[in-house]
Amino acid sequence: MDLSTRYLGLNLRNPLVASASPLSRTVDDVRRLATNGVGAVVLYSLFEEQLRREAAHNERMAVQGSESYAEALSYFPPSVDDGRSGHRYLRLVERAAAAVDIPVIGSLNASTPGGWARYARWIQDAGAAAIELNIYYLPGDNTVHGSAVEQRHLDVLAEVKSATTIPVAVKLSPYFSATADMAHRLDAAGADGLVLFNRFLQPDIDPEALSTVRTVTLSTPADTRLPLTWIALLHKKIRASLAASTGVERASDVAKYLLAGADVVQSASALLRHGPEYAGVLLRELSHWMNRKRFSNLSEVRGLLAAPDAKDTEDSAARERADYVWALRKANSGIYDLY
Ligand SMILES: Cc1cc2nc3c(=O)[nH]c(=O)nc-3n(C[C@H](O)[C@H](O)[C@H](O)COP(=O)(O)O)c2cc1C
Repeated sequence: MDLSTRYLGLNLRNPLVASASPLSRTVDDVRRLATNGVGAVVLYSLFEEQLRREAAHNERMAVQGSESYAEALSYFPPSVDDGRSGHRYLRLVERAAAAVDIPVIGSLNASTPGGWARYARWIQDAGAAAIELNIYYLPGDNTVHGSAVEQRHLDVLAEVKSATTIPVAVKLSPYFSATADMAHRLDAAGADGLVLFNRFLQPDIDPEALSTVRTVTLSTPADTRLPLTWIALLHKKIRASLAASTGVERASDVAKYLLAGADVVQSASALLRHGPEYAGVLLRELSHWMNRKRFSNLSEVRGLLAAPDAKDTEDSAARERADYVWALRKANSGIYDLY
């Protein structure tokens, strides 16, 4: 079965991409994902704070070391900006890209003006095939306008695009008030891909311990519905590639995302839950499904069930409202799914 596809202008042997997660902490991890068949790997995110901490540590070590060994200063980078050679993440990008024959995509979460461009450039120089921007930002400050949040995404993209030449994907939050508009603006600003969506850390409350619980929970297939909706609405409406992210557990979830119009489908939770070997299971079952349905390649599958083209936005709004009214009338007459 031909599962080859293109994503961010790169040729991938198949559309299953390992999402940014602890599954890519070491070169061996990345090798294991590649051996088990994924089409590309997105490394876990480089956080600017982490880079600064490491640089400060290296600097401290250099000062201490220089008291005993004069030449020690040359072993350690003297400042944050020169710290790239000693940085663990950049070494991982370099070694992982050399170790596997699939694209290795770096992921960046910076926090300062200038930081996005500088570290994106370092990730590119280390050998990443592309960069995913993890613009994880929860605007809890009530003085921050929605328009400022949107502009921040465009500014980060512009900063990174001006500093790099490799493809850049933006991983989006599911919480924009007008996701389609944001997608179009990022597309126009040169995003090579959009990843729909990031999953935010949502603290829980333990009513017995009377405390908050900070934990990352793995997703379930029910979580595919929102990204599925937006992928279906954006397919063929923008130039940028579309990556689906969230909720993949079975090959049928991968198939749904492709039918909605995703170019690739990312997975973190399922691979964390079942191990990297599970990538092979997902890919085999995807091929079986395609065989059963008599598809011979992904271009026959992709977007088959995307939202049909509305003649104008009024049509589209009317159709979405009609769908909503139909679904709620059905549910209110007692016909709904029990999970
Ligand atoms: C343990 C864990 C760590 C993650 N780390 C990152 C990260 O470093 N950067 C990032 O952009 N997303 C990170 N994510 C989010 C995933 O890449 C993914 O977008 C999200 O989990 C939804 O996909 P899934 O349903 O397949 O898990 C992480 C997710 C998990 C579960």
